[in-house]
Amino acid sequence: MKIISVVGARPNFMKIAPFIKEIQAHNAKSGGPKTESLEPIEHILVHTGQHYDDRMSKAFFEALEIPEADINLGIGSGTHAEQVGLTMMAFEKVLKEEKPDWVVVLGDVNATLACSVTAKKEHIKVCHIEAGLRSRDMNMPEEINRLVTDRLSDLLLTPDTLSIKNLKQEGATDKQVAFVGNIMIDTLEANRDKARLLEIPAVLEENKLEGHEVHYDETLNYGLVTLHRPSNVDKKEVLEALVRFLLDEVCQDMQLIWPVHPRTKKNLQNFGLWEEMEQHPRMILQYPLGYHELLRLNMDASIMLTDSGGLQEECTILGTPCLTLRWNTERPITLKEHGGASVLVGNNVERIREEYLVILKEDRKPIRPELWDGKTASRCLVALLKY
Ligand code: UD1
Repeated sequence: MKIISVVGARPNFMKIAPFIKEIQAHNAKSGGPKTESLEPIEHILVHTGQHYDDRMSKAFFEALEIPEADINLGIGSGTHAEQVGLTMMAFEKVLKEEKPDWVVVLGDVNATLACSVTAKKEHIKVCHIEAGLRSRDMNMPEEINRLVTDRLSDLLLTPDTLSIKNLKQEGATDKQVAFVGNIMIDTLEANRDKARLLEIPAVLEENKLEGHEVHYDETLNYGLVTLHRPSNVDKKEVLEALVRFLLDEVCQDMQLIWPVHPRTKKNLQNFGLWEEMEQHPRMILQYPLGYHELLRLNMDASIMLTDSGGLQEECTILGTPCLTLRWNTERPITLKEHGGASVLVGNNVERIREEYLVILKEDRKPIRPELWDGKTASRCLVALLKY
């Protein structure tokens, strides 16, 4: 059997790592008596190149021991249509050349959409890992990517039971859907001990932005901030209000560590907000952090303020109180009302402040949703081989 797996952007890398390890383990076992399911798998890893900075891409391949991509499409930055269009054109050539039995796509980034569409048009089976998540917000590019990919995929592997319900409502059949759990948590569990060994002051020193002084006080609590969604960072009035709240209010209570996404940094600079952030004694600005570094900081953070879906999930497992700066989420299982650690606060400062004051008083409460057990990759491969 021949499988092409596709990655494009940062959140894909932690999802592909355990799947590739599972294929390697399968191949190590497959030398024995030939049965149908123990046939060795020929695996090709394609990177579309949407994320290309060392800190957004290469660092994750190294830290998570992902083998170098066999093929890099070198797509880079661009509008959504450019990224998707260029990916489709380049990926079609790969498919015609390689003729795989399956294309495996992950998550909801532009690579997921572009490569699932291209594969289906070439009559190649598509398997979507992390299927069935729905925010019901069609202004989110990721929601469009999820909907199209799931509609086309032959095999839909879901992280939770709410996702199964979504897929069934949209007409997916029993044969198409398998509940496998959350593959990101495989990576978290496999890397927890290594992350724990990192010293926080050393992490902050190594990842400080050029020219930025880190004043980290080990006797004080710290919060973590990550923002990259267009709805939060592309409009000056929205981003400015958020920055004001963080600097004027949250920094009164604690230090804030903020690994800044390239898109956000560009906008903070353009909106004239960057300098004040850089100079604030309790704001610790960082380059985008490596996997272990961010996991280490998350383990001891008093609070997370984020618009990232993946961090919401990691906070659930680690128990970090999490304010999700979005009005909706495709991951409701991470919310307090479903037993998780996260509260939706949108980007209205009054709403954020209200929940911030509540969540600040809460203790860490790690939660483990069903099948978020570190063994999802193995169930993914079993489901694919059994299909
Ligand atoms: C993408 C994903 C999003 C994911 C996020 C994580 C889609 C639709 N969105 O959004 O789901 O949560 O990644 O980071 O696929 N840039 C760099 N260096 C890089 C990559 C990007 O400087 O390595 C710059 C680009 O020039 C661009 C901006 O960052 O201006 C945004 O990058 P882009 O790939 O368009 O989308 P993300 O916002 O990162």
